[in-house]
Amino acid sequence: MDSGLALRPAPSGSAGSVEAAIVRVTSWTSRILVAAACGGAAACQQTPLPTAREGRVLYGDNGCASCHGEKGYGDGTVAATLEPKPRDFRDVNAFKNGFEVQAIATTIAEGLLQHAAPATGATGAPVHHQQGMPKFPHLSDVERQSLALYVMSLRSQSTTR
Ligand code: HEC
Repeated sequence: MDSGLALRPAPSGSAGSVEAAIVRVTSWTSRILVAAACGGAAACQQTPLPTAREGRVLYGDNGCASCHGEKGYGDGTVAATLEPKPRDFRDVNAFKNGFEVQAIATTIAEGLLQHAAPATGATGAPVHHQQGMPKFPHLSDVERQSLALYVMSLRSQSTTR
């Protein structure tokens, strides 16, 4: 494995071969450190980073599309019955809590419910509305961040339409 390193004559002075040896040792050391930090591939997978790709799956699994629409235009099947309307993710300025990963992840965790003043229904009895963005507290932080990244990606796609 070390053939050539010790016996090869240095071209001019010995600095060249010493440097080569150091580079070799350093690259091996860093490989060992990377392996130790992860503790193997399985441990690395336990703390996944949020991705828009994962968010796309979660968006389907959690029924976001029923309100926000398949493409996030705010035109899901139940959108017409809702007031306020579900956010159209193309419109960055419409985000009440800001257009950032953590802000959006927090909105998904806590929801954005409106406690509208009671209106008078057809029977004359007050009708209480509590509509808006439901909360998804059962999702993990990483899952909500993935959803946020996906929501944000819908904006950039639509601006290149
Ligand atoms: C029952 C319908 C409904 C579902 C399901 C729903 N939303 Fe919403 N969402 C809304 C409504 C309505 C609003 C607008 C609330 C407002 O303007 O006060 C909203 C707003 C938002 C906003 C904008 C928040 C802001 O700062 O203005 C984001 C982001 C969002 N939803 C993401 C999601 C994601 C991700 C999912 C799925 C995990 C989801 N929503 C599921 C109805 C829904």
